[in-house]
Amino acid sequence: MKEISVIVVGAGPVGLLTTLRLAQAGIRTTCVDALAKVDASPRAMAYHPVAVKELDRAGVLDDCRKIGSAGRSLCWRNTKTKEEIAVIDRAPSKEFTYENLMIGQHLLAGIILEHLKHYDKASVRFSTKVTAIDQSGGQYVSLTVEDAEGSSSNLSADYCVAADGGRSTMRKLLDISFDGFTFEEQLVSTNVYFDFEKYGWKDGNFMVHPEHWALIGRINKDNLWRVSYGEKPGLTYEELKERLPWKFSEMFPGDKPPDYKLDQMSPYRLNQRCASTFRKGRVMLAGDAAHLCNPFGGLGLTGGILDAAAVSDSLIGIYEGKASDSILDKYAEVRRGIFVNTVNPTSQANKLRLHDDDPETLGDRDPVLHKIRTATPEEMQRMRANDTLAVDMKQFFDRPEQTNGSAAQTNGVTS
Ligand SMILES: Cc1cc2nc3c(=O)[nH]c(=O)nc-3n(C[C@H](O)[C@H](O)[C@H](O)COP(=O)(O)OP(=O)(O)OC[C@H]3O[C@@H](n4cnc5c(N)ncnc54)[C@H](O)[C@@H]3O)c2cc1C
Ligand SMILES: *[C@@H]1O[C@H](CO)[C@@H](O)[C@H](O)[C@H]1NC(C)=O
Ligand SMILES: *[C@@H]1O[C@H](CO)[C@@H](O)[C@H](O)[C@H]1NC(C)=O
Repeated sequence: MKEISVIVVGAGPVGLLTTLRLAQAGIRTTCVDALAKVDASPRAMAYHPVAVKELDRAGVLDDCRKIGSAGRSLCWRNTKTKEEIAVIDRAPSKEFTYENLMIGQHLLAGIILEHLKHYDKASVRFSTKVTAIDQSGGQYVSLTVEDAEGSSSNLSADYCVAADGGRSTMRKLLDISFDGFTFEEQLVSTNVYFDFEKYGWKDGNFMVHPEHWALIGRINKDNLWRVSYGEKPGLTYEELKERLPWKFSEMFPGDKPPDYKLDQMSPYRLNQRCASTFRKGRVMLAGDAAHLCNPFGGLGLTGGILDAAAVSDSLIGIYEGKASDSILDKYAEVRRGIFVNTVNPTSQANKLRLHDDDPETLGDRDPVLHKIRTATPEEMQRMRANDTLAVDMKQFFDRPEQTNGSAAQTNGVTS
């Protein structure tokens, strides 16, 4: 064992999951977040099976299933005619254990926070904002943090995981560039009560239309749904709000105007960006701090959860003496490679498909939809079990099994 300590910046789902995994392994871990509590804005709600498996490994899946649900069916739907273009049926099967989990990301974060209470090696400090970093000493990383009253102090540890989101302060402090682009269109994400069930709509509906493109997905059994739709660039919040009834009326089935109740609405920019490196010195980037993609296809936090798993496994390997520090370069290399080569192109294609010019013929022209339309049940199973986004870091461990007690020196988290 090599006693190590870790600071995790950001108490979003990625930072909290990392903190939990490290604490479970016995690593002293401090998680800090600038906000006073978990951010509850309407963002991720759907996770791929490959990420759900990681939630299981961290021991939080049973609690997630109590609040969330399994997305059983998904389709692409012509916004104009409301007809289905292609359908994926995801009824649970014996061969495949993990579902497409549907749960709001703030609820997921809340569950992980509850689990963290059982580990005295972990602490989570809200209202604690990182403002500076110093790793010039070489042997540890020191962060300057500011509390709610504006008074500063320093925290130091052996390693740091920066999971502080798309606008990451850590990435900027480390002078790591965030290359890519921002789409011109904006995204309006809403939570809305409407009886889509009455019209037989699927749990997830990708709405295809050159102008009225969207994802309409079920949040819960009380007919609360997430409607995220594209909007013209340059509109103000007030203008977006004014146009919302018309957008809903174009997209929703049944009588016009549709009888809905709006619960929440937030505009977002759509980004495709990736950090030039996921490691600098003793700091590793994870989640949105490392990469951003548009939310169509639910690849953002799914990738973030897989980062959390990989960076935790790497640090646990170091702690248990099974891996040298170079495992952290491997983490940076493989997780970045997966984003650049797979997640980024897939998520861009997912968005472009939605505003196709001719939804009538899309099902025949688009290779992905064509594959879905013609797949046998076995091929469908293989597509669901797709785990190309994950990587098992243990294959890169470079040290033979070490016994307990050969401990090196400690740098506890100090303040
Ligand atoms: C509308 C929308 C829908 C989405 N839907 C999906 C989906 O269905 N599936 C999916 O997989 N993904 C989805 N995503 C993406 C998903 O929301 C993100 O990938 C996810 O939030 C990333 O989590 P994170 O923990 O990396 O970052 P965040 O959740 O952004 O957390 C970062 C934390 O860091 C803290 N922080 C920032 N700066 C500092 C600082 N200086 N010091 C201390 N703390 C700091 C912040 O306060 C914040 O709490 C969606 C995104 C949007 C916008
Ligand atoms: C924190 O560390 C920085 C640089 O490492 C140092 O300049 C500063 O004085 C320290 N602040 C406190 C409050 O100890
Ligand atoms: C698995 O997913 C990746 C990326 O999402 C894709 O490129 C690949 O074709 C998929 N494989 C199967 C068998 O569906």
